[in-house]
Amino acid sequence: MKRVSNDEYMTTKCQTQNQAQFTPRGAKITGIGKAVPKKFITNDDLAKLVDTNDEWIRARTGIGKRHVISGEETLTSLAAEASLGALKMANIRAEDIDLIIVATSSPDDLFGSACLLQGAIGAKGALAYDLTAACSGFVVGLVNGMHYIRGGGFKNVLVVGADVLSRYVDWRDRGTCILFGDGCGAIVLTATDDVKDCSLLGFDMHSDGTQNHHLTAKVCGAKTGKVWESDAEAGERTAFENISMNGQDVFKFAVRAVPMTINASLKNANMTTDEIDYLVLHQANHRIIDAAAQRLSLGEDKVVSNIAEYGNTSAASVPLALCEAVESGKVKKGDVVAMAGFGAGLTWASCLIKW
Ligand code: ACO
Repeated sequence: MKRVSNDEYMTTKCQTQNQAQFTPRGAKITGIGKAVPKKFITNDDLAKLVDTNDEWIRARTGIGKRHVISGEETLTSLAAEASLGALKMANIRAEDIDLIIVATSSPDDLFGSACLLQGAIGAKGALAYDLTAACSGFVVGLVNGMHYIRGGGFKNVLVVGADVLSRYVDWRDRGTCILFGDGCGAIVLTATDDVKDCSLLGFDMHSDGTQNHHLTAKVCGAKTGKVWESDAEAGERTAFENISMNGQDVFKFAVRAVPMTINASLKNANMTTDEIDYLVLHQANHRIIDAAAQRLSLGEDKVVSNIAEYGNTSAASVPLALCEAVESGKVKKGDVVAMAGFGAGLTWASCLIKW
């Protein structure tokens, strides 16, 4: 009789019970790519629109400019460019992808942007769907993608963090318009036969809906179903309000939540802070990044930051910063990177990866 390994036994057992097939696999990060809009707005440009100035914005946020989509650019076009870059590095074809997760709060279509991306890059065999967890979305998507490979039988997963929040910024509100920019980052995860071979070392994810009011872009227009309203209202468009934020409350939350979640990820991975080579945090405010690094006792040399160039690109900010750090040679093969996102929801999430 053929000897059956533990892994084979698990698969066989599931199949005989007519349940989904779960074959444990390893999962590696094999590619990363990015895309940013051509047009950018400097702090001096903004000072012509609202009562602000370059010195205040740089000192309070670290932001020097933000890129915004214009002309033919869309969330999908940015996502396609970033994804093709990641596929190239991973050395796989779009047809080889079996799952696309697009983390975004600003899709090109109410029904999602992942299928638009699938069509744009020709990933014919993939399931594609959007994931909304605001600025934590990419980290949540990465952990999701890893699980699909580790236990779900998927082979190549494309995880994209993309946002074009310039669509939802009130350019008269100096409390928010200075912060946000558009961008995209994408990563490819690939299955390996060695179950112990996993780029994800540990993770930690949370939300707190009771604090939702601190950062919102609420639906407006038809607040209830329109069917029973008057003829005049029946064709009325429904849209979203501009971004509204209690900056100080979100700031205090972030400074507390980020070190907490990274410590939880370290515990999950059975690791310590001194094993972290680089810290890639959501680029919301350099003071938040500095405070988190300080609380984790990580020196400046370990902090990855591109906030001066792009501002807060929401779900795109973590993969965009990681991609630039990889491209510049800062993050090298084998480095341990701690990543964390935080923001609307409220949500916060972190993970540790081995590059
Ligand atoms: N230019 C000049 N002055 C300004 C500006 C501006 N753009 N904005 C505010 N001020 C003024 C205020 O009116 C205030 O003046 P006052 O003292 O006379 O009343 C003073 O500067 C200080 O204002 P604060 O709101 O206390 O400024 P703060 O230091 O908190 O910075 C900021 C504001 C940058 C928004 C900060 O609170 C912040 O970064 N919060 C966190 C945002 C964040 O992390 N978001 C992440 C999630 S994003 C997502 O999920 C989509």
